[in-house]
Amino acid sequence: MNKILFDNILALAKPFYPDSDPAHDWGHICRVFAYAHKIWLGEGGDLDIITAGVFFHDCVNLPKNHPNSSDSATMSAERAVKILSGLNDFPQHKLPAVAAGITEHSFSKGLKPSSLESKIIQDADRLESTGIIAIMRVLTVCGQLGRPIFNWQDPFCEDREPEMKYGLDLVYSRILKVSSMMNTETARGIAVESDERTRQFIALLKSEAALFPTEEDHWDDKLEVSSKLVTPMLPPSGFDKTGDDRRFSRSTL
Ligand SMILES: [Fe+2]
Ligand SMILES: [Fe+2]
Repeated sequence: MNKILFDNILALAKPFYPDSDPAHDWGHICRVFAYAHKIWLGEGGDLDIITAGVFFHDCVNLPKNHPNSSDSATMSAERAVKILSGLNDFPQHKLPAVAAGITEHSFSKGLKPSSLESKIIQDADRLESTGIIAIMRVLTVCGQLGRPIFNWQDPFCEDREPEMKYGLDLVYSRILKVSSMMNTETARGIAVESDERTRQFIALLKSEAALFPTEEDHWDDKLEVSSKLVTPMLPPSGFDKTGDDRRFSRSTL
């Protein structure tokens, strides 16, 4: 692909990815392309189709709670074909393959990719659903939909099945499962490394979560934890806790 065509595709696609949707902004598209390029280096395929497919794959993105949300990929494919039809430099006979790649990338539709280029676009987008960035993307969607970031009583799904309404639950129901859904060997290798980082994140979060009581804990437990947390603020020994300045007293915490 020549540089002018590449730049033209980017310029046409960029306006469809506003910052107001942080999980599907221009940064997401550029990272998906970086993954796609890496996979293409290992697997081959037609770079025109892959590039156009990646840069337009989320150009229509209805909110996750919209009744037609699952049609976003089909609508993106239609928009891409319409726009790229007006780009003379783009080989027009490749438009059906671009449309298929965009339609088939959809996670919710669960379609099987019909070509190597489709496999690469799907894998690259799925890699954005692995690792720490995937966790950040999930949490930003939680914020948009007004959902809790995790279940306070059981953050790590130890005694319950993961639920859609909790952000962290998606680590268990999706983020750690995506690596087994890759089409290509190259993407599988990248996903294994991402999963390792996700597990490290969870381990760190577990040690942080252990500092806090669950909602169901008895108040005495909470008091104990609170005392631990503010220990560095306690006054030097000999401080008169019965005086006016009682805010340092454990009994008032
Ligand atoms: Fe998408
Ligand atoms: Fe995407």
